[in-house]
Amino acid sequence: MKIQENISLKNYNTFGVEAKAHYFAEVHDLHELKYATEFAKINHIKILFLGGGSNLLFTQDFDGLVIKLNLKGISEEILDENHVLVSAKAGENWHEFVLYTLSKNYGGLENLSLIPGNVGTCPIQNIGAYGTEIKDHFVSCKALNLETSEIEELSLEDCKFGYRDSIFKTSAKGKYVIVEVTFKLTTQNHLIKTEYGAISTELKSLGIENPTIQEVSKAVINIRQSKLPNPAEIGNAGSFFKNPSIPLAQFENLKEKFPEIQGYANGDWVKVPAGWLIENAGWKGKQIGNVASHKLQALVIINATGNASGKEIYDFSTQIIDSVKEKYGIELEREVNIL
Ligand code: EPU
Repeated sequence: MKIQENISLKNYNTFGVEAKAHYFAEVHDLHELKYATEFAKINHIKILFLGGGSNLLFTQDFDGLVIKLNLKGISEEILDENHVLVSAKAGENWHEFVLYTLSKNYGGLENLSLIPGNVGTCPIQNIGAYGTEIKDHFVSCKALNLETSEIEELSLEDCKFGYRDSIFKTSAKGKYVIVEVTFKLTTQNHLIKTEYGAISTELKSLGIENPTIQEVSKAVINIRQSKLPNPAEIGNAGSFFKNPSIPLAQFENLKEKFPEIQGYANGDWVKVPAGWLIENAGWKGKQIGNVASHKLQALVIINATGNASGKEIYDFSTQIIDSVKEKYGIELEREVNIL
């Protein structure tokens, strides 16, 4: 493995913005990973671990070592007559991994089809879609502790998963790099989850009444392809903001003023779709310079011309935050990591 210098990161982030890594290394196994992290330690430089590059925005060059995680491999172990444990290395592409599990008729991950990114980064933000989050099927992960250089196993409880959240974003930020993730999946009697409106509508239009896990996956793929831009064609990082949770009382006040506002109650809190707020603040499809809010899903910010800089995208997102705050009094939080 070579540690390269002054490498462009344009092809390593799904926004497709230009930024340079001072140092860059692509690692294929634990030995190379340890070597690269040691290099950073000795030279007192910071590290950025890169998976699919699908949830970050470079607003400047990275003045340290970027480590691209390319660890590959999938293994499985039958647990009982209904369940299997499937482990995948960090560098496996998430969607290809989901398709692999479906090809073996293992159930659980079908609602998470077509989410960009790699297996190793999916626990960090507890990826979720259409009523499923990875925490629902997560058993454990193996991670390299960067302080001790030892591999540790973290359980579901250890990871403290929340909505787009885990210890890897909070108390253990910067402490670990995830190298392998293990899921518990069903081998029969699959639990089909179609309660999320769009899935049942899509299945109906496909004429399917009792869907298999493969058919649910197909429906999810169709929905995502119909409204989310493909990063290979238009630079983007999926949802740019989190859906904010606001106190019930605040939501009721807003509802008087804006009767159309949407919200999903959860105890004393209401989750409001950020896409609705952004659209109704007038941003859906709006373009400024090289950056736009996607015309079919306002929550997704796109590199519309392919020539946007990270700074331009960041400034565009600040304008959205300010405008939503002014109109609705709600402060949107970015979901994408800003570097
Ligand atoms: N909406 C609008 N205008 C828009 C977009 C959405 O009014 O431009 C409204 C929709 O009408 C709908 C509601 O907002 O009633 C929710 O929209 P949608 O079902 O598209 O889901 P979302 O809340 O916008 C979340 C995730 C997505 C995930 C979908 C489906 C977050 C931040 N985003 O989006 O995840 O695919 O649910 O489960 O939680 C991602 O994280 O990158 C991502 C794409």
